[in-house]
Amino acid sequence: MNIILTFLRFLLQKVNLQIDIIYLFFFIDLQLIQFPYIAIQNQKKKQMIQQIKKYNILEEFLNSSLQSHQILDIYLGYNRIGKEGAFFLSTALKSCTNLQNLTLDLYFNEIGEQSALDLGSALANCTNLSNLTLYLRSNRISKEGALGLGSALANCTNLSNLTLNLDSNQIGAQGASGLGTALANCTNLSNLILSLESNQIGAEGALGLGMALVNFTNLSNLTLNLGSNKIGQEGALGLGSALANCTNLSNLTLNLSFNEIDDQGASGLGSALANCTNLTNLTLDLQENKIWEEGASGLGYGLANCINLSNLTLNLGSNIIGKEGAIGLGSALANYTNLSNLTLTIESDGIDEEGALSFVSALANCTNLSNLTLSLQQKQFLCLTL
Ligand SMILES: *[C@@H]1O[C@H](CO)[C@@H](O)[C@H](O)[C@H]1NC(C)=O
Ligand SMILES: *[C@@H]1O[C@H](CO)[C@@H](O)[C@H](O)[C@H]1NC(C)=O
Ligand SMILES: *[C@@H]1O[C@H](CO)[C@@H](O)[C@H](O)[C@H]1NC(C)=O
Ligand SMILES: *[C@@H]1O[C@H](CO)[C@@H](O)[C@H](O)[C@H]1NC(C)=O
Ligand SMILES: *[C@@H]1O[C@H](CO)[C@@H](O)[C@H](O)[C@H]1NC(C)=O
Ligand SMILES: *[C@@H]1O[C@H](CO)[C@@H](O)[C@H](O)[C@H]1NC(C)=O
Ligand SMILES: *[C@@H]1O[C@H](CO)[C@@H](O)[C@H](O)[C@H]1NC(C)=O
Ligand SMILES: *[C@@H]1O[C@H](CO)[C@@H](O)[C@H](O)[C@H]1NC(C)=O
Ligand SMILES: *[C@@H]1O[C@H](CO)[C@@H](O)[C@H](O)[C@H]1NC(C)=O
Ligand SMILES: *[C@@H]1O[C@H](CO)[C@@H](O)[C@H](O)[C@H]1NC(C)=O
Ligand SMILES: *[C@@H]1O[C@H](CO)[C@@H](O)[C@H](O)[C@H]1NC(C)=O
Ligand SMILES: *[C@@H]1O[C@H](CO)[C@@H](O)[C@H](O)[C@H]1NC(C)=O
Repeated sequence: MNIILTFLRFLLQKVNLQIDIIYLFFFIDLQLIQFPYIAIQNQKKKQMIQQIKKYNILEEFLNSSLQSHQILDIYLGYNRIGKEGAFFLSTALKSCTNLQNLTLDLYFNEIGEQSALDLGSALANCTNLSNLTLYLRSNRISKEGALGLGSALANCTNLSNLTLNLDSNQIGAQGASGLGTALANCTNLSNLILSLESNQIGAEGALGLGMALVNFTNLSNLTLNLGSNKIGQEGALGLGSALANCTNLSNLTLNLSFNEIDDQGASGLGSALANCTNLTNLTLDLQENKIWEEGASGLGYGLANCINLSNLTLNLGSNIIGKEGAIGLGSALANYTNLSNLTLTIESDGIDEEGALSFVSALANCTNLSNLTLSLQQKQFLCLTL
């Protein structure tokens, strides 16, 4: 009998308990998971467009009234502006001394170290910046570029909201640590989104970055994306024990997918995060690691100590947690008495009927749970006959 149908049957039997809404998704293909996420981002962008000065042609921005800009959106993604374009852009930005809110999108532009430095020194002159969103995904920014950018941004002492996306560059371990240490000088930061996916930062980079994070004393919202960086067990443990000292964090999103994290790494991460007692919202993406039954249970039991958690999103997709993992995770979740929203993605292969029943029954103990989203991944193709 198909395990997804088994889950469905057990869930439907439990509906008359406390749970108000249940969404059940199952993905045959991992790629599908990306779509809902993209849709949400687009909606957000649309809402904001009205009041903002917006440019997507470099020359138009260069010829605009630079001093007058307070809220500025510059979208130059996929433009091959290169070193020269980045230089002109930076020179113009340097004169935008009244800027408070800047969104600069330069993904896929073949810009490298020098451009990162130019950009940094321009932004350092914009001392009124309080919101900065910088997308530098898929360029050629190295360790030196990241360090230069970081130490320039350290001069933007009024920054309170920073989004920095350096995905798919080559900043490495030292770039990640140094960037973290520099940004810790922005003492007013309360919201940080730092995305360093696919940068070969390894365990060393994760540790260095973690140590720097402890100095961000005003942070209450942190999103850290370290996907595809081979941080492994050591990186997960080190990052966890550093985050355990960030006791003011209340909203944490941590993407550690595709990182070769094993059972010990996952369990250790869970018990370290248990020290963040102010956490109310936690999103943890651990898909595509090496987490088996023990890791899934251990992680669950660790996180159960975050007594104030009300929203938990946990992605364990493409890890074979199996029957024992489902049972362990389920009985850990039974301790989450304050949880009101739970979104869980697991691989259903290897979970049998007994595992599914035990898991679903345990959820009935989460007495405050009002929204449950359960995504079950399955490698094999499904044939549903209704
Ligand atoms: C840097 O900012 C100052 C004021 O904060 C301004 O006077 C100066 O012109 C700016 N530098 C450049 C190169 O625009
Ligand atoms: C910064 O962004 C937030 C939303 O993220 C907004 O509420 C706030 O008004 C912005 N501040 C400035 C100075 O634009
Ligand atoms: C940042 O500020 C320091 C002094 O506080 C200065 O020496 C340095 O040049 C500044 N960096 C940039 C990129 O403006
Ligand atoms: C400023 O930037 C932030 C992103 O940090 C954005 O969410 C916000 O809507 C912007 N604020 C205004 C007033 O445009
Ligand atoms: C950060 O601040 C410390 C002093 O608190 C200073 O020594 C260091 O140079 C600053 N780092 C950067 C990158 O500005
Ligand atoms: C930072 O963003 C938050 C919302 O995310 C907003 O409430 C706050 O006003 C922003 N800070 C500044 C200085 O704009
Ligand atoms: C954190 O801050 C302390 C003191 O402010 C400093 O000595 C230490 O080097 C900083 N750590 C990192 C990793 O930046
Ligand atoms: C944290 O982010 C949430 C939105 O996700 C926002 O409502 C809240 O104001 C932020 N907190 C701070 C201190 O900016
Ligand atoms: C978490 O806190 C406990 C004490 O409450 C401590 O023994 C443990 O070392 C802490 N874990 C980390 C990773 O800091
Ligand atoms: C966390 O705090 C403990 C003591 O409270 C300290 O021993 C440890 O070094 C800190 N870890 C980091 C990464 O700062
Ligand atoms: C948690 O938040 C409260 C205020 O909401 C604060 O007083 C406390 O110091 C924070 N930290 C810890 C570890 O509870
Ligand atoms: C955490 O995020 C929620 C919304 O996602 C927001 O309402 C809350 O204010 C945030 N907490 C802090 C301390 O910013």
